[in-house]
Amino acid sequence: MTTTPAQKPNAVTGMAHLATPKEEVLLRTTRLRKYFPVSRGLALFGGKSHLKAVDDISFDIRAGETFGVVGESGCGKTTTAKMVLNLERPTGGDISFEGKSILKMDGDTRHNFRTNVQAVFQDPWSSLNPRMRVRAIVGEPMEIATNMTRQQITTRVGELLTEVGLNPYQANLYPHEFSGGQRQRIGIARALALSPKLVVLDEPVSALDVSIRAQIMNLLVDLQKQHGLAYMLIAHNLATVRYMCHRVAVMYLGKIVEMGDTDPLFDDPMHPYTRALISAALPSHPDIKREEIILPGEVPSPINPPSGCTFNPRCPVKIGAVCEDLRPALAEEKTRHWVSCHLYESSLKSAEAVAKAQAETVPAAARNGRKG
Ligand SMILES: Nc1ncnc2c1ncn2[C@@H]1O[C@H](COP(=O)(O)OP(=O)(O)O)[C@@H](O)[C@H]1O
Ligand code: SF4
Ligand SMILES: [Mg+2]
Repeated sequence: MTTTPAQKPNAVTGMAHLATPKEEVLLRTTRLRKYFPVSRGLALFGGKSHLKAVDDISFDIRAGETFGVVGESGCGKTTTAKMVLNLERPTGGDISFEGKSILKMDGDTRHNFRTNVQAVFQDPWSSLNPRMRVRAIVGEPMEIATNMTRQQITTRVGELLTEVGLNPYQANLYPHEFSGGQRQRIGIARALALSPKLVVLDEPVSALDVSIRAQIMNLLVDLQKQHGLAYMLIAHNLATVRYMCHRVAVMYLGKIVEMGDTDPLFDDPMHPYTRALISAALPSHPDIKREEIILPGEVPSPINPPSGCTFNPRCPVKIGAVCEDLRPALAEEKTRHWVSCHLYESSLKSAEAVAKAQAETVPAAARNGRKG
């Protein structure tokens, strides 16, 4: 049996400025999909169709690891995060936390999941209730999920504020009395309130002033070291991902096209899309600061994605008809480095094997009197 990226065990070495993760898998997604129904114009002409926001992705996140998800806007990063947080129900596939599916949780498993998986979102303005004082915002998870007394919660809020670089007296203030960077610190304090094992960070520094970003990134790296936290970090800024992540998955139109340890993936990107992303992020002059990834050509619609390799209309090194006809499989081309592209032998061979198996099952079904 071939191993999928999620099943493949591997040793994580860690990077000099980052904590060393453990082997233990905290979260696993298996063939995860999210298709949104969309109506295509008048029912008379089109009827219902689907937007494939996330289409068959598998990955693991280990204890103490930062797993980065990167890609252009609209490639399915936030939808993946929402499914991992159990805020969005997958169309197919599974997600397990500590070995138990989060799609079939009973009371105890749900409590364990809600305690151990937290989130920090992009916009610290909209994610903090403007009418609540910081003490209530940071203390709320403890009020809901624990039996702690008011006094214990107040003490813990003070400790958390100190941990994220704020002052305990600031617990009495309202969100509007803080700067953007300080508000993101409050969001992080709240996420840490229940001592989680995994924090999903959806573009945590994108809305912040460039001068503040490094401070928040360093805070997150330090907190990971102190608490052994795992992060799922979503970002479109490659520098953020390279600095903070142990491993990275590159998404394109709802699929993972490349996945591997951060340094090899950035130093020797294999997929033409990853190469294009990295070269687009490298400014032609040191004074140019790129905030967004801009590649030539339009991202095709996820409602009617191109056949075969979905990157084929934009690919500068397209081989030929095989790229339009056959969907490349994500395969391990180098140790711990997965890529889905027909330029690479394992990927092409796996795709051919899948296509052959599918071709063989159709006549078999037809022989049994079923419609294909
Ligand atoms: N609730 C929804 N209904 C329909 N389409 C959605 C919904 N949420 C996201 N999408 C679509 O799914 C795709 C992926 O979106 P998203 O996960 O937000 O991407 P990203 O975070 O990478 O920018 C986009 O085409 C987006 O328009
Ligand atoms: S499969 Fe073909 S079109 Fe797709 S990225 Fe590889 S070479 Fe380009
Ligand atoms: Mg998003």
